[in-house]
Amino acid sequence: MDMDQNQTPLYDALAAFKKRRLDSFHVPGHKNGKIFSKRGKDDYQSILEMDVTEITGMDDLHAPDGIIKHSQQLAADFFGSDQTFFLINGTTAGNLAMILTVCSPGDQVLVQRNSHKSIMNGLELAGAKPVFLSPEFEKETNRYSKVSPIAVEEAIRCYPDLKAIILTYPDYFGRVYDLETIIRISHVHQIPVMVDEAHGVHFHLGGPFPSPALASDADVVVQSAHKMAPAMTMASYLHVNSSMVDADTIRHYLQIVQSSSPSYPLMASLDLARHFLTTIKSEDIEHIIQTIQQIRRIFAEGIGWKVLPSSSLDDPLKITLQVRGGWSGFDVAKILEGSGIYPELATSDQILLILGLGTDVDQEKLANEMKEINDQLKILPRRDTIKGSIAFPHIKELVFSYMDMKAKKSILVNWEEAVGKVAAQSVIPYPPGIPLIMKGEQITRDHLHHIEELVQQGATFQNDHVHEGLFVFI
Ligand SMILES: Cc1ncc(COP(=O)(O)O)c(C=O)c1O
Repeated sequence: MDMDQNQTPLYDALAAFKKRRLDSFHVPGHKNGKIFSKRGKDDYQSILEMDVTEITGMDDLHAPDGIIKHSQQLAADFFGSDQTFFLINGTTAGNLAMILTVCSPGDQVLVQRNSHKSIMNGLELAGAKPVFLSPEFEKETNRYSKVSPIAVEEAIRCYPDLKAIILTYPDYFGRVYDLETIIRISHVHQIPVMVDEAHGVHFHLGGPFPSPALASDADVVVQSAHKMAPAMTMASYLHVNSSMVDADTIRHYLQIVQSSSPSYPLMASLDLARHFLTTIKSEDIEHIIQTIQQIRRIFAEGIGWKVLPSSSLDDPLKITLQVRGGWSGFDVAKILEGSGIYPELATSDQILLILGLGTDVDQEKLANEMKEINDQLKILPRRDTIKGSIAFPHIKELVFSYMDMKAKKSILVNWEEAVGKVAAQSVIPYPPGIPLIMKGEQITRDHLHHIEELVQQGATFQNDHVHEGLFVFI
């Protein structure tokens, strides 16, 4: 780090703008907060006064040469990238732009199977030909969470024309794998590695957090600052650190997939989130880790789950509850929510809790809630069987290319009829937003059973017709 990380140029400019109380003869229509629905004015007022647009002095996200450029340079300096872009449409926009930059129609790319839907959407938009690599099952996590260097090496041998490798690191639950070796192998073959690090922005704080993707020499890394650092929702960073991926082309696609009216409070929150990370000292981290250990101990008192242990491969800010006792993760999550504890997500057999980079959890209240939750679980009916995640084939391609799918017609069929056909839509439990069935994938009886179970357990899907069936190609 060579720059003075105590600076926050973008935030400072907004704060100064607010103080000057200028006459607005420009958009946005709320005129610095003077015109707004009375119903929400009090809550919104202080932010509206900073909600400017690209007026003189405020720079332009899509062609930055002032305060935005300076803020992005500070971020690049802190995170250790050649160039950092601020994203105002989340990691979603970064994933789309990086894939559109590197992949042309028909290009083969190796993609981690349990990727977020924004990766799948990027592949579709680019017309790429994905080769999906399923992570291996890990006993410690009870999930398919490990991408191994050997598997990547094998995939490169089978598909020597790969244009890129797209990985998710860490997974939603904060688990990492040996990214460094994977990137070393890929670079020997001149293949760029692009990493969706949506859940890993705070890894730059150093141990005990796992190592960040940029430290392993990833070519492009996208991080949701809003997920694990204190930034506003939708605020993300895209870092480029590569001689193989062109930063100007990424900028081109970013201005295609993002708004031409980016939110300034949101961008300034990226400036402040980076500044916040630079101010955290090792004593603060120790204190946070101690608090997390206390919280883990409180959760260990719950009768409906086992708290999975956390190793050096796990993000300490994430706690995974392995649900047991004949209840599903969804059943138990409902009970937790009823007591005021809102988890990040539930699956059939796990619940994910995410902590922040602070220590302000009311432990006494939590301990009392735990007793209440145990009482409720004692009378909650149990289910016969709860199956966890399903296995995906190790390496798999889609049945049709995205180009072919575009020309095909589809119909809605019931689930039984769908088996053996090719899905014309993805089936996406949300959260986490990772497709169970991908558009272009052949539907198996295993898929059918798993989705039936999830529906019965009360999982939520981003599919209108999931109770009736699925659109398949004819
Ligand atoms: C692994 C992963 N990638 C990408 C995204 C999308 O990120 P964003 O919400 O910042 O657009 C998510 C969101 O949950 C995610 O979990």
